[in-house]
Amino acid sequence: MLEGTLLPQLIRGGRRITVWSAGCADGSELYSVAVLLQRLGVLDRAQLLGSDLLEENLVLARQGAYDSGAMFSPTLRAHMCWERRDLLRDGVTAAKWRLILCRNLAIYLAPEPKRALHERLAGALVRGGVLLLGRSERISDPERLGLRRAAPHAYVKEVAA
Ligand SMILES: C[S@@+](CC[C@H](N)C(=O)[O-])C[C@H]1O[C@@H](n2cnc3c(N)ncnc32)[C@H](O)[C@@H]1O
Repeated sequence: MLEGTLLPQLIRGGRRITVWSAGCADGSELYSVAVLLQRLGVLDRAQLLGSDLLEENLVLARQGAYDSGAMFSPTLRAHMCWERRDLLRDGVTAAKWRLILCRNLAIYLAPEPKRALHERLAGALVRGGVLLLGRSERISDPERLGLRRAAPHAYVKEVAA
């Protein structure tokens, strides 16, 4: 879905593409997106951030060494950065993002912190930006957050929100 539908829409018009993997774990998700952007020929205008609560996860993410044996070039890595961030206490980043992946994190949260997290993530998107959740995750009232459901677990920030 990212490669075939979402990224081609998000990169249209030569815009800068900003991607945030919130709760990035070992970083594999963000490397995958970076590889897709490289394949689409737009890595040079991409900025990718991975953040996680746990420093040990960020150590793995910075290493980017996986069982698959995939190797990532310095050029690709130069577009990526990593930071420790508690999404519940520190909130979101100051920047605005075109794509936010927050997958399989909110499933562990009680309804109120989950609602507050989704609201903050929606606020961190640029207009037309996409919030991608885990495959089984849903936002029950996306319109309240200024979001439109584009796929069962993907939400677009309404242009007029
Ligand atoms: C189940 S993993 C999902 C990782 C990845 N997004 C995926 O779907 O494969 C959840 C991740 O969220 C991180 N996490 C949990 N609570 C967090 C919080 N309050 N702030 C930031 N990251 C958090 C965990 O450290 C873990 O890396």
